[in-house]
Amino acid sequence: MGASLVVEGSVAVIMNRKLIKPISVAIAVMVVVACVGQWIWVDRPILLTAIGLAVVGQQVTLLLLNRVVRGDIEGHTARIVNVIDAYQRPLRRIRPRLPLPPLRVPGDWTITPDVAEILIDEICDSKPQCVVELGSGVSSLIIGYALEQSGGGHCYSLEHDAAYARASSELIARHGLADYVTVIHGAISDYEINGRPGCWYERIAWDSIDDIDLLFVDGPPASIASAARYPALPLLFDRLNSPCVVIMDDGERESDVLTVVRWCQEFAALACEYIATQKGAFRLRKG
Ligand SMILES: C[S@@+](CC[C@H](N)C(=O)[O-])C[C@H]1O[C@@H](n2cnc3c(N)ncnc32)[C@H](O)[C@@H]1O
Repeated sequence: MGASLVVEGSVAVIMNRKLIKPISVAIAVMVVVACVGQWIWVDRPILLTAIGLAVVGQQVTLLLLNRVVRGDIEGHTARIVNVIDAYQRPLRRIRPRLPLPPLRVPGDWTITPDVAEILIDEICDSKPQCVVELGSGVSSLIIGYALEQSGGGHCYSLEHDAAYARASSELIARHGLADYVTVIHGAISDYEINGRPGCWYERIAWDSIDDIDLLFVDGPPASIASAARYPALPLLFDRLNSPCVVIMDDGERESDVLTVVRWCQEFAALACEYIATQKGAFRLRKG
């Protein structure tokens, strides 16, 4: 609604600006006619002619500025329409009961709309019964609605931050999705993986989860450790069903690309595909 007003407003401005050109041309023509008239009927009207030429110059400048501003407004309007479309496309398959918090542009903490669309399509088409999400937030809502839409299944969302675990749980309850999503707080703790030290969600948070059909990797944040997401597969691989799909967000971040490379070297059963989303993503298939 708000967005459509922005677009309509911009279009209205563009339409009104179209009046500037004929008005400017009419003023310039009138001034030129007046100047010529002065040379015919008034003796040496230098000052009046100079003023007239200044007015014509001003009108020409106004016309040029109008063209530049119009280009800017049209460009902005096109970008707004693209953003609205990108935001609405994933929501065509789910029917949120309340407005979703905004999905953001690359660089922000939420998934981008194109990744939301990938998750929704994956869930609605493959109907996974057990989904595990690493890093809760708006994506937990998207997954919950997609599970509801696809007829069942449950998502366990591991969250390292107690405050965000509470905030995401409240968000899920407000949207009436508690039957589909459970947020589990798992503090970050130390592990030894393949002889190397690492850290990940504490074992008690995920030890009872098994038979995973879809794993969405969007946490822990890179601020926790340089390869914060790497432990996901060494620790969960045996709990992934065959077939299972793993979606990894932030596929353009160097640390995450290295993580996927390591996973593919260590788990020969994985087939890996890069998806050109706004922030880049990977889809890995087991079985
Ligand atoms: C990459 S984000 C994951 C976000 C989530 N998968 C999503 O797309 O909405 C990683 C962390 O951001 C934090 N987070 C959750 N909600 C947040 C909020 N409203 N503002 C800022 N950070 C948030 C959580 O600690 C989460 O684990």
